[in-house]
Amino acid sequence: MSLNRVIGAGNKIPWHLPEDFKWFKKMTSGHVVIMGRKTFESLGKPLPNRINIVLSRHPGNLQRDFPETFGNAWVGRGKTQFPERPHQFELPKVGCAAAVDLRIIRDFLKLDPASSPLEFFIAGGAQVYEQSLPFCSDLYLTLVKREVEGGDAFFPAFEEKFDLVETIREEPEFKILHYQHRSLFSLKA
Ligand SMILES: NC(=O)c1ccc[n+]([C@@H]2O[C@H](COP(=O)([O-])OP(=O)(O)OC[C@H]3O[C@@H](n4cnc5c(N)ncnc54)[C@H](OP(=O)(O)O)[C@@H]3O)[C@@H](O)[C@H]2O)c1
Repeated sequence: MSLNRVIGAGNKIPWHLPEDFKWFKKMTSGHVVIMGRKTFESLGKPLPNRINIVLSRHPGNLQRDFPETFGNAWVGRGKTQFPERPHQFELPKVGCAAAVDLRIIRDFLKLDPASSPLEFFIAGGAQVYEQSLPFCSDLYLTLVKREVEGGDAFFPAFEEKFDLVETIREEPEFKILHYQHRSLFSLKA
């Protein structure tokens, strides 16, 4: 997010920081990324070498609008199918999940790390961050050192629930910060 908490404007990220993208790619490759329908539309295609879960209350629209991506995708509505055995998915695999109450995300994040080699990364946007932060053990935040005018998507307040544990990287234009949820068991422990 920017100094004034902007993460998006006009369904785009309002900066271009290749080093930050590289870091995101390195962190998430081989794992699972969960994102909202609008963020997926801004990307236009799934992120390669990762299981992509796209949240929508109308997954049929995704299947209609992106048939190559979602035509044969798994569509989940409850907590009984995909979450039990996510490690059996082969990469790259695209999932299209409908989770009106975020049960799917909660179930993903509660998985015993010993039984699943996969990590689950919430990749935005604002709506999905807002709803899923309460279930997240760790927050990796890129703070872009500028104010952005005209933003229409903002990172939610998290400071009261998370503690800063590490500055992973400090650059002139941005820094990468690692926070942990104060009262949640760290799934990576
Ligand atoms: N700076 C960054 O690192 C970063 C990262 C990611 C995104 N972004 C930016 O964030 C903006 C998009 O954020 P946004 O908040 O507008 O949209 P979003 O969170 O990406 O997507 C919202 C959509 O997700 C679906 N959804 C949300 N909650 C759901 C739930 N509980 N169950 C099922 N589906 C659910 C709904 O899709 P349906 O309407 O289809 O039901 C909803 O309209 C863009 O500007 C993007 O570029 C920035």
